[in-house]
Amino acid sequence: MSVSIRVADVRKSYGDVVAVDGVSFEVDQGEFFGILGPNGAGKTTTLEIVEGLREADAGSVELLGMSPWPRNTALLPRMGVQLQGTAFFERLTAREQLVTFGSLYGVGPKKADAMLETVGLTDKAGTRVEKLSGGQAQRLSIACALVHDPEVVFLDEPTAALDPQARRNLWDLLRTINGEGRTVVLTTHHMDEAELLCDRVAIMDHGKILKIDPPAALVRGLDAATHITVDSGHLAPADLAAIADGVAETEDDGATITFTTRDPSTVLTALAEHRVLNGLRVRGATLEDVFLELTGREYRA
Ligand SMILES: Nc1ncnc2c1ncn2[C@@H]1O[C@H](COP(=O)(O)OP(=O)(O)O)[C@@H](O)[C@H]1O
Ligand SMILES: [Mg+2]
Repeated sequence: MSVSIRVADVRKSYGDVVAVDGVSFEVDQGEFFGILGPNGAGKTTTLEIVEGLREADAGSVELLGMSPWPRNTALLPRMGVQLQGTAFFERLTAREQLVTFGSLYGVGPKKADAMLETVGLTDKAGTRVEKLSGGQAQRLSIACALVHDPEVVFLDEPTAALDPQARRNLWDLLRTINGEGRTVVLTTHHMDEAELLCDRVAIMDHGKILKIDPPAALVRGLDAATHITVDSGHLAPADLAAIADGVAETEDDGATITFTTRDPSTVLTALAEHRVLNGLRVRGATLEDVFLELTGREYRA
């Protein structure tokens, strides 16, 4: 497996603000790599340094075996960049936009049309970019990042401000791009997105990477509690106390009772014996619990 990106002890400050505080990671060729963290964590700055859009104060970056800074024109055709908050050429249609982008890389209009098809915008080809919905504009900006067939694709919060359906469509597209063998690096502040899409996730906070692992390994490594929820009103208080005794914390919000436990077998068995499994839901640890464990505070995007 060859390595697409090597980042070693990169640092960047803006005046007094330390945006990136000694970050190191590697991304393998063909990997779907996520940088997850709340706003201000340093995700965009990290990405811009890897893309060669920004100079690091310290540390080293290698992208496809080359240094992206100072601006390395040999890298440009091999990487696709979708910036946070996309700017389009004004007054162009979706197709003209994409054809214009493509022409910068010597790509013909046929490829632009194929790309419109890939991102599901063929029927919007003649629509001016300012008339596109949020989701359509995001897909067009991804098409612009992909039109020249880059090996590595960088996406900075590509699903921010999209409705749930548009997010799901975009996830499908990103899986397709990665399935074609492209290395994908994505930043997100959505836990669920990182968990669903990424082969490995770097959890970032206050300019530092706290942990890097596959999402499932991050969660498994936690030894976190399981939350078991059933409908309220079926259990007598004495039975509730007996079930929870020593194995679970309980919380009754009037509609549901939630047992938080590290011994789900005992709780589930007791609930089943009392025949009170109505409305049963079981939730294991998520990346939110990982963040809480790593930082000591709740995750707030
Ligand atoms: N151009 C800039 N000038 C000054 N401070 C900046 C600039 N860009 C980002 N910052 C600051 O650097 C920190 C990291 O920002 P950023 O890399 O944008 O994080 P994220 O993408 O995770 O939200 C934040 O405190 C932010 O306010
Ligand atoms: Mg950002």
